[in-house]
Amino acid sequence: MQITSFKQYEEDYKKSIENPEQFWGEVAQNFQWRKPWFKVLSWNFNEPNIKWFEGAKLNITENCLDRHLEKNGDKPAIIWEPNNPEEESVTLTYKMLHERVCRFANILKRNGAKKGDRICIYMPMVPELAIAVLACARIGAVHSVIFGGFSAKSIADRINDSRCKLVITADGAYRGNKQIPLKDVIDDALIGCPTVEKCIVLTHIRTPVSMLKGRDVWWEDEVKHVNDICEAEEMDAEDMLFILYTSGSTGKPKGVVHTCGGYMVYAGYTFSNVFNYQPGEVYFCTADIGWITGHSYIVYGPLSQGATSVLFEGIPTYPSPSRFWDIVEKHKVNTLYTAPTAIRSLMSFGDEPLKEKDLSTIRVLGSVGEPINEEAWHWFDEKIGHGKAPIVDTWWQTETGGIMISPIATVTPTKPSYATLPLPGIQPVLVDENGNEIEGNGVSGNLCIKFPWPGMLRTTYGDHERCKQTYFSAYENLYFTGDGCLRDEDGYYRITGRVDDVLNVSGHRIGTAEVENAINMHAGVVESAVVGYPHDVKGQGIYAFVIYPEMHGEAELSKKDILQTVTRVIGAIAKPDKILFVSGLPKTRSGKIMRRILRKIAEGDTSNLGDTSTLLDPAVVEEIMDAAQKL
Ligand code: PRX
Repeated sequence: MQITSFKQYEEDYKKSIENPEQFWGEVAQNFQWRKPWFKVLSWNFNEPNIKWFEGAKLNITENCLDRHLEKNGDKPAIIWEPNNPEEESVTLTYKMLHERVCRFANILKRNGAKKGDRICIYMPMVPELAIAVLACARIGAVHSVIFGGFSAKSIADRINDSRCKLVITADGAYRGNKQIPLKDVIDDALIGCPTVEKCIVLTHIRTPVSMLKGRDVWWEDEVKHVNDICEAEEMDAEDMLFILYTSGSTGKPKGVVHTCGGYMVYAGYTFSNVFNYQPGEVYFCTADIGWITGHSYIVYGPLSQGATSVLFEGIPTYPSPSRFWDIVEKHKVNTLYTAPTAIRSLMSFGDEPLKEKDLSTIRVLGSVGEPINEEAWHWFDEKIGHGKAPIVDTWWQTETGGIMISPIATVTPTKPSYATLPLPGIQPVLVDENGNEIEGNGVSGNLCIKFPWPGMLRTTYGDHERCKQTYFSAYENLYFTGDGCLRDEDGYYRITGRVDDVLNVSGHRIGTAEVENAINMHAGVVESAVVGYPHDVKGQGIYAFVIYPEMHGEAELSKKDILQTVTRVIGAIAKPDKILFVSGLPKTRSGKIMRRILRKIAEGDTSNLGDTSTLLDPAVVEEIMDAAQKL
């Protein structure tokens, strides 16, 4: 299933459009099924109702583990690099990983988990996180991984939304020189989570934790009671594999649902092709398993292909900005897949951290999460790839399950800041505001996809109508991505960023409405409006305009109070970079906030604010502009 030439890409693409069922049916033959499908695809974008590989039975962990045991059992599956470089790294071969997954799957069963139950995972980037994820899949439980940066309230909302029965966590996490008390956060969350019966706690940083009798058990104790034999649960191709919460235009994150068969095929196929993975190579994706990139391209994609996947606990700048390069050198990394925000941050330290680092093993580079600016692209290309490693700028989303538009390493061309061409099976279209398709090249519009692909979301958990409204109602018969996009003269795609009220801060997706809700929860705040603005490292920063009439003491202290509130309500990742206190917000006569004006002010571009004739009170704009200049 690996594409080896541009000609083959063209042929495969053509075939995938003309006969998608045959194309994906053949790709799916490269995976292990307990029972074959009777129909490759049934679909309808109106309801939406999408089924891939109908009737087929499988377990994704048999594809990620069991099937490699015979020939590649001793090959490293996961290489774990701890936060602290002084600590030993850990290599788990496929055999070892299989054994640990089976053991932990038995622990889950012992604690009452069964097929279909939802299980929340809130863990540091340690091998046990991958083990927990795979163990859920092994027994057919649905995992819902929550990124370690979310607050107790965010966790509780997510646990309650999907009625999780069990939580898997650790005492704490290391992040650079900080320690994060994960179990404490979980304890706060669980006060408001009546569905949770058990909480399994891994010892990692050995910080004191409270263990509630009857609810909390130690991972290490449980291991003593189980063996390593655990037959994989037989799953239907369309059974739920996982839920992953992501932000949208409303205040409430939604649980994107992926199913077993299609997701597996898509994650595996795209991993193998986009990175041109070769047997024996070491692949390092720097994302966190708490996000979709980690699900698809640290765990499921690489393991389904028998690859060696590096799992890094720490951050790029700890203990020094050489850390990534040290890891590349130490583990002889062949593929490095990271985010533009990390590249920009490391770039700002100059060449010093790169001195005497052996990056000669690098063959392929990848970028994901946000548009990569040309400067960062060239730096990555020259300093890290030495001009020899193709950069795959991979565009995709939580909802798409896997990479959609991207170069195929060594096969299709790259172009700075362009995601370039759609992968086989992907039919992108650009549409104007009225939903008319914009044909031809040298055009831009809103990016939609007009035909299903196996990795696409099936629903949003517990609220199918929301899935329909968000993705399938903006334009008839199209999946709407929420992204703006340009197609250049050569037909290459360049993603220009979100066209809805979703921000992309350091590659993290955050809804402006979510941040506003959090700020508004702060006592004394009357109203707020949040917009994004260009940020050198983060890509986008968060700019909050806040009405807070009766402040106690200094404005700076009130800002800190607001940051604290946002940290409590959402998590530190959603903290505004700038807060401007204002006496009013620019509104239309019907009371709608004119965000366009606020965006301009946040960008520092007030020369042309556009049409302001519908403003209720134009004077407020002058006041905000004055205040913004002084910030
Ligand atoms: O705006 C696009 C941006 O990230 C959004 C998806 O975010 P999330 O679901 O968190 O998934 C991120 C990892 C796949 C998209 O709607 N985005 C993602 N990759 C790129 C990108 N923007 C430009 N170029 C990319 N390569």
